[in-house]
Amino acid sequence: MSTENVILIGFMGAGKTSVGQAYARKTGLPFVDTDQMIEEEASMTISDIFRLKGEDYFRETETGVLKKLLSEEDLKVISVGGGLPLREENRALLKKLGKVIFLQVTADTVVKRLKGDTTRPLLQGNHVRERAEELLAFRNPIYRQAASVTIAVDEKTVDEIVNLIQTEEE
Ligand code: S3P
Repeated sequence: MSTENVILIGFMGAGKTSVGQAYARKTGLPFVDTDQMIEEEASMTISDIFRLKGEDYFRETETGVLKKLLSEEDLKVISVGGGLPLREENRALLKKLGKVIFLQVTADTVVKRLKGDTTRPLLQGNHVRERAEELLAFRNPIYRQAASVTIAVDEKTVDEIVNLIQTEEE
């Protein structure tokens, strides 16, 4: 049984939301997703926030959401946007917030899973694979640094990943 929040970080398409929802179902904890919290608060999609207000504004909002979550006492499963751990300030807030689990994915899987996706402004256009590879090379060391546990997810089912997270909790 978890005694702290469980936070899932990792690249777009790593399965943070699916795994988070499944883990929440299994443990009976509530599930929240920072992207969803931001969209609800702004009454706008992430794509529109990027387009109309810019990425810097979005990143500010992510920090605000983390602070809000830190002020709440009930335990949760939290999935955060793929770029949220990039800010050093956010990594410190994540550590305070609970157990941080990094779902590590390869560019191959990202491309397969996000084919045709129009909701991720950072992965649009004709060079999605190159962009994913470039971003992953930059971000993976940061994700590793932000997390206490890393799970390579490419070949694993959602259930297998949930079981691994539960083993970490024991
Ligand atoms: C982003 C990831 C997205 C969303 C936004 C930016 C990123 O979330 O926050 O499009 O910088 O990696 P998911 O990781 O849930 O797709």
